[in-house]
Amino acid sequence: MSELISQSERWDREWMHYFATEARSTYLVPHWKMRQTSDLRGLSAPEIFDAVAFEENGSPNGVPLRIWAAGDDLVGRSVLEIGCGCGWLGKRIGMMGGDYLGLDYSELALAIARGVSPASCSYAQIEDEEAIAAYSGSRDVMVGREFFIHQNFENATWVLQMGTRLLRPGGLISADFYRGDPAVEQGVIHPAKSPLDPVHASCAFEFSDDEVEELAQIVGLRVVSSDRHLAHQRQFVVFQKT
Ligand SMILES: C[S@@+](CC[C@H](N)C(=O)[O-])C[C@H]1O[C@@H](n2cnc3c(N)ncnc32)[C@H](O)[C@@H]1O
Repeated sequence: MSELISQSERWDREWMHYFATEARSTYLVPHWKMRQTSDLRGLSAPEIFDAVAFEENGSPNGVPLRIWAAGDDLVGRSVLEIGCGCGWLGKRIGMMGGDYLGLDYSELALAIARGVSPASCSYAQIEDEEAIAAYSGSRDVMVGREFFIHQNFENATWVLQMGTRLLRPGGLISADFYRGDPAVEQGVIHPAKSPLDPVHASCAFEFSDDEVEELAQIVGLRVVSSDRHLAHQRQFVVFQKT
């Protein structure tokens, strides 16, 4: 891909390719064809990560929530997701009584997210400063689902700065960084301080513990916890706005 395209168009293309090649029903099913099957309150972050908790069209689809946040930080809370995609998580948070804001580059994904989510969910394109400004200081928690893995150091910095601006003081950010298992064959993975990959939008960037700490210092966040999940090749970091 040699032409110069915007990040918005780049991720639109990524979603079009995804829908042409992968199972899409879980993204397209609207909230009114879904049902919550278990209460998430009181669950720990590892339990939430593995929880399915919703049926789609009368049967569990088996896809777990895959976010590293305690149930009590999600249920009925004001949640921000950057890189919300088609609202897969947003419609679930909205159904649990939460007030959810999803931001993304892709207008295509956002159009789907708006169509499948309950009224308690709002969505905006991440470059729409005017829409986003209205939410300053309003969010209890920010989560990343299959998101921070795709950010290089430069992008992770401005994304965390934006998240911090939207959080209330004391609010939490749950970030899903990539951390490879050396025993497993690796895909397209770059060190955190590499430039964006002009070919592979969905490549991963790998952060060391020192780089995570450096990010926290630049943005002015406190690292609350950092947990490695070897099987899923993730380093889950929880930051707090001081
Ligand atoms: C792998 S998808 C995950 C989508 C969603 N979180 C989910 O679990 O279905 C990554 C998403 O992040 C978006 N994205 C990537 N980098 C971004 C950035 N810096 N700002 C906003 N959105 C971004 C992409 O458009 C895409 O929708």
